[in-house]
Order: sequence, then C-alpha cells, then structure tokens
Amino acid sequence: MSTETTASAAASGNAATDRFRQSGKTTSIAADVERVNLLASKLIKAANDIVLEERVSYDEFNALKAWLIQVGEDGEWPLFMDVWLEHSVEEVATDHREGNKGSIEGPYYIPEAPEKKSPAKIEMRDDEKGTPLLFQGQVRSTDGSPLSNAKVELWHADEDGFYSQFAPNIPEWNLRGSFIADEEGNFHIDTMQPAPYQIPTDGACGQLIAAAGWHAWRPAHLHLKVSAPGHELLTAQLYFPGDAHNDDDIATAVKPELLLEIKPATEGSGVQTTYDFVLDPEAK
Ligand code: DHB
Ligand code: FE
Repeated sequence: MSTETTASAAASGNAATDRFRQSGKTTSIAADVERVNLLASKLIKAANDIVLEERVSYDEFNALKAWLIQVGEDGEWPLFMDVWLEHSVEEVATDHREGNKGSIEGPYYIPEAPEKKSPAKIEMRDDEKGTPLLFQGQVRSTDGSPLSNAKVELWHADEDGFYSQFAPNIPEWNLRGSFIADEEGNFHIDTMQPAPYQIPTDGACGQLIAAAGWHAWRPAHLHLKVSAPGHELLTAQLYFPGDAHNDDDIATAVKPELLLEIKPATEGSGVQTTYDFVLDPEAK
C-alpha cells in the first residue's frame, strides 16, 4: 500500500513538520547571544556528562548519530519535541496561573477550524465510529464572572486514534472545530469520544520506544484552546477516567485537574461530560 492510503510515521511526521514551518512559531532567537550561549552550553554539557558518566562507546555514539538523522528524515522532530520536552516548557509558561491548568498542544493543532455558534456539532463523517460525546461547560474569569462569547477550539483523534490532516482518507476538518460560547460563556458541543492514541511506531521515535522497552501510548484525550478577550489563551487536554495510560502517558501531559467525569447521556445515546474553564486575565 502507498503512503496515500496508509497512515505512516513519515507521512504524519512530515505533515507535522510542514505545519510547524507554516505556524509562525519559527522566529529566530539568534539575536540574543547571551541566552543562546547559556542554553546551548548547558545542553552540550549535559550530553557530555552522560557520555563520561556512562562511558558511551563509539557504537553507541554512531547509533545516536544515525538515529538523529532518521528523526529528521521521518519529519519527526515535532513529535519528539512535543512528546518528551513540551510538558516542561508548558509548566514553566503557565506556573503563574490561578485559573485552569493547561497541558501540551502537541503536533496536530490546526488554526482556523470552521467556526460554529454553540450549541453545535463538530464536523464528522456521516458514519463516524465511536461513542457520541456531549461536551459542555462554562468559561469564566478567575473572579468567577462568565466570559461571554468565549471561543472553545476543540480537536481530537477519531475512534482509530487518527487526526484529520495528518492521516490519510479523513475529511479535512473532521473532529476539529471552533465553537463560540453563548452570552454566559456556556458551550455545548456534540462530538465522538476519541480512542487512546499510539504515537507512530514505524518511524524513528517508534524505533527508540521499542529499543528502550517503553510503550507508545497516550491516553484518550480531547485537545482544547480556550480564549476570551483580555485573557490568557488556555491550551489544554482533557482525559477520560479509567484509561490505562492516564498514569503513564508517553508525553507526561496528564494532570489530575484535567480528568473528566463521564456520565451516560441524558438525551440520546452515548455519554456526556461537563467541564468548566477558568481563564486568567492578561497581566496589565
Ligand atoms: C503527539 C500526539 C498527540 O496527539 C499529542 O497530544 C501529543 C503528542 C505525538 O505524536 O507527538
Ligand atoms: Fe493528541
């Protein structure tokens, strides 16, 4: 089968790499010589310390060199960075917040998903597989006031663990949407419960995971960006209770505050959950 019909690490990796290049996040920090000197020196020292402490051999050095080359060829640098490093960067960026805990963005966000006014149903195939999920809640400020017309961007994997625009044969905006809350900050979104997600196993990152005897799983999760005028953008993920990987997420991105409470749907089939977001006002 060709990469056009089969999900592959290289295809989703290269799509994530292209997406990152287009994201406007690639601005150079090279102007700040002091900071680059500090960070690059520390990184290089940490690597050298490992070599000396663990008496790394030429075979191991060359294996690493070959593997780093392969990460690039598979387009998996976004994946590597988001799985093994982003959670610490997110922690530093948000530790001043009084409102909602956030979590990593990951490699599969696409801005400007089709906008709908809540209540609304996310874009999905007529025969979308899975358990229908009603996701509702309210967006408030840290002082408790509702944030009218807050925006809730939602994206997640399908029942097979695949994201639209990064795996083949899925409609462009499938399971992605931008929802405008009502005057009271309330939102009501009909979607499908996502499946647990395995990061691609057939690329360089998968090779590392197998070679180290790790697993490739992230627990099932909803991705969100919640925003309102005058408030800090919240990037978060929400998780489902009882998922076997909530305690050993490969991306270290689960926090107790981000666990949903799932109940049977009061109307129709499936399940429903209510989760309120609290946004921090922007620093003056
Ligand atoms: C990766 C995928 C995700 O869905 C996510 O939330 C974080 C990381 C990844 O494949 O790197
Ligand atoms: Fe994800």
